[in-house]
Amino acid sequence: MIIGIIGGTGKQGTGIAKRILYNTDYVVYIGSRDQQKGISHAKKLEKQFSGKTIIGGSNHDAVEKADVVIVAVPFDSLEEILINPFKEKLKEKIVIDCINPLKFKKKGVFLFQPDGKSVTEWISEKIDNPKVVAGFKTISSSLLNSMRTIKQDCFVASDSENAKLVVKEMISSILKTRVIDSGPSFTARYLEAMTALAININIRYNSKDAAFKSTL
Ligand SMILES: NC(=O)c1ccc[n+]([C@@H]2O[C@H](COP(=O)([O-])OP(=O)(O)OC[C@H]3O[C@@H](n4cnc5c(N)ncnc54)[C@H](OP(=O)(O)O)[C@@H]3O)[C@@H](O)[C@H]2O)c1
Repeated sequence: MIIGIIGGTGKQGTGIAKRILYNTDYVVYIGSRDQQKGISHAKKLEKQFSGKTIIGGSNHDAVEKADVVIVAVPFDSLEEILINPFKEKLKEKIVIDCINPLKFKKKGVFLFQPDGKSVTEWISEKIDNPKVVAGFKTISSSLLNSMRTIKQDCFVASDSENAKLVVKEMISSILKTRVIDSGPSFTARYLEAMTALAININIRYNSKDAAFKSTL
């Protein structure tokens, strides 16, 4: 199984890649707008995770080669980076969306959802594919990159039950934590809001540890 990460050179993409390499035998393809940047980022990670397969290159190659595509770029750049170039290619793939449409202002962190919808719904509509699954939205890059044990739950949401099942199993093996199915893709609106809340609480308490664990 090859997992391609669009924006794999960033904080969240790197953290997810590290957890994949540490806990699984999935092949990771680090994608970037700049092919050389993707290659050198993959080489750095390769040194830390010997024996695992990690490849770097362009976002185009990451999409082309991947069985499952993780999107880890800022929301504002999605149309340019993902939708316009890969609309057709992504129709057949499972796409994991970890994007939170947030704006950092003086008062705190605000949610800016497109037409009040989750990014998961938005991507799904744009690429005309129900196999878009919200995942990793409430898991911070600082926790992922720290390699500390993850004690909080991770949540998945999607309109495709099959894709959600596949991603639920995948994330459970990647993060070694409980993965909770929150329902259809509209419930990703609330996962994105949960992240905004957690960051605001962290700002208030000068912490990085506010997170969600269900009593389920
Ligand atoms: N950071 C977190 O704790 C966290 C937690 C949960 C979810 N997320 C979500 O994950 C996504 C990535 O977050 P991040 O913190 O990893 O962001 P980031 O490090 O700023 O950016 C990720 C990557 O996206 C590309 N990129 C950055 N700015 C861009 C722009 N203006 N236009 C096009 N591409 C750009 C870059 O890749 P190349 O230059 O290599 O193309 C960059 O390495 C966001 O949507 C965020 O909401 C983040």
